[in-house]
Amino acid sequence: VEVIEVDDEGAAAATAADVIAHARPDVLGVATGSSPAGTYGRLVERRDLAPPTVLCLLDEYVGLPPDHPRRYRREILAALGAPLGLAVVAPDVDDPDPDAAAARYDATIARLGGVDLQVLGVGRNGHIGFNEPGTPFDAPSHVVELSDATRRDNARFFGSTQEVPARAITQGIGTILRARRIVLIATGPGKADAVRAAIDGPVTPDVPVTALRGHPSVTVVADRAALGGRRPAAPREVA
Ligand code: F6R
Repeated sequence: VEVIEVDDEGAAAATAADVIAHARPDVLGVATGSSPAGTYGRLVERRDLAPPTVLCLLDEYVGLPPDHPRRYRREILAALGAPLGLAVVAPDVDDPDPDAAAARYDATIARLGGVDLQVLGVGRNGHIGFNEPGTPFDAPSHVVELSDATRRDNARFFGSTQEVPARAITQGIGTILRARRIVLIATGPGKADAVRAAIDGPVTPDVPVTALRGHPSVTVVADRAALGGRRPAAPREVA
């Protein structure tokens, strides 16, 4: 795991955008949420990506109407897809059989040639995508029941915890690990435990982000607060 320590959220956004732009991905895997928002803003400002690059969602809620503003597809279209003219590929959460849609999503990603670079955030409990603690590291894309903790965390994007959908389709950890390169963005003290676990905690399905240690090309872009005040020389290699 390569760790790039930066001062703050703005620097994290600029640094992660640089890493993505230099990688010139044909298929960019995209998380939603606050962690990558600034990065996407930078990519748009600098027009760093252009067709035929396509954006491939990391996850999507099940049960929201197609025009709901919190649909991740809509958020990514608004933040990156539309401004840069990039197509967005998403799991078909409107399929009455979401399990079948989840299985098809892995096939869709494979048909695209796989994800060149996957952008990730991390939950405070170490989740990646919607892979909650306990998810096997080889899990394919699947339907998940969201934990109460995750629904409470995401209530800030909705009116209340009750309005957060109870289910989602997520790329599985196995799917995420097939990306050729992974960039994890983490800022703020709330992420310190998860980031510490990702860098040097015991590798265990209890903390899904630790699965990344089995991947050959992971870059963690984190601000000082998310690194818990540690001050490594940046960038730095951690075994
Ligand atoms: C978003 C996703 C989640 C978030 C995580 C962190 O598509 O899959 O795993 O990356 O919950 O969320 P933020 O960045 O909002 O703190």
